Amino acid sequence: MKTHIERAYAKLNLTLEVCGKREDGYHDIRSIMQTISLRDEVELSVGTRAPWRIECSDASLPTCEANLAWKAAEAFFGAARQSPDGLLVRIVKRIPQQAGLGGGSADAGAVLRALNRIFGSPFSAAELAALGASVGSDVPFCTLGGAAMAEGRGERLRRLACMPKCALVIVKPPFAASTPALYRLLDARAEAVRANHGALEQALAAGDLRGVAQNLRNAFDPLVSSLHPSIGAIKAALFACGALGCQLTGSGSAVYAVMPDEASAAAARARLAGSGNEVFLAEPTAFG
Ligand code: C5P
Repeated sequence: MKTHIERAYAKLNLTLEVCGKREDGYHDIRSIMQTISLRDEVELSVGTRAPWRIECSDASLPTCEANLAWKAAEAFFGAARQSPDGLLVRIVKRIPQQAGLGGGSADAGAVLRALNRIFGSPFSAAELAALGASVGSDVPFCTLGGAAMAEGRGERLRRLACMPKCALVIVKPPFAASTPALYRLLDARAEAVRANHGALEQALAAGDLRGVAQNLRNAFDPLVSSLHPSIGAIKAALFACGALGCQLTGSGSAVYAVMPDEASAAAARARLAGSGNEVFLAEPTAFG
């Protein structure tokens, strides 16, 4: 039996443009994503000589084929034409669900990376990302980590300079977001939100944190903020604590802020904790 532990990092969407609906029902997007230190732990054992099993610290998550970690393992073994002779995946869950932080995708990406390592790297980084696309739209990026521009459904990736080291505050309000429903509402809106990707890429390349914070843009932000006024109140509190920029990640419901230093991040956490919010401190992270 072989066991490997892999960190499954949450992602933030620094930008998220929705370019249009596709024939397959998905949407073409352009999004710069960044992995952060908030993470799940994925322990993977192969050769257990027992039926496949997933154990998860969060009892509300499926531990069967419906779990993206399971789907990722199926995709890996299907493509590798191998059998693990029994598989056990243990997930310690810390990334909140239905938050736009890519929690399930992070676990799936970690499973793909761990299996590729255990089986002697049969797949290149690009092949692993392509396998991830069959599991979920954000999984390709989660196999890569760091910062990248994601296009298409999220499967076309171009690596970018990582966000400069900084203090991030992530606030998960006490309501969940339904991504398909929010995409439908977005389709009905006349005005498309456009990001200045050139300016953001330049700021990333220059390590210019203020430039990064000024160019955060997410098409879901105005929509979800209009549906949930508490999002506006969270942002106001974050700005009052000195946030350089803040917005929704993915289709929400989590909001994140780029803070000027750790002291203001700690102050923001103290201010926003309670009222049903979950608050996390984090920093940008690349896989190493
Ligand atoms: O691929 P994933 O399972 O993360 O997508 C969840 C849902 O979000 C899809 O069923 C689809 O309704 C919507 N989606 C989309 N376009 C994308 C990504 C997701 O319409 N690029």
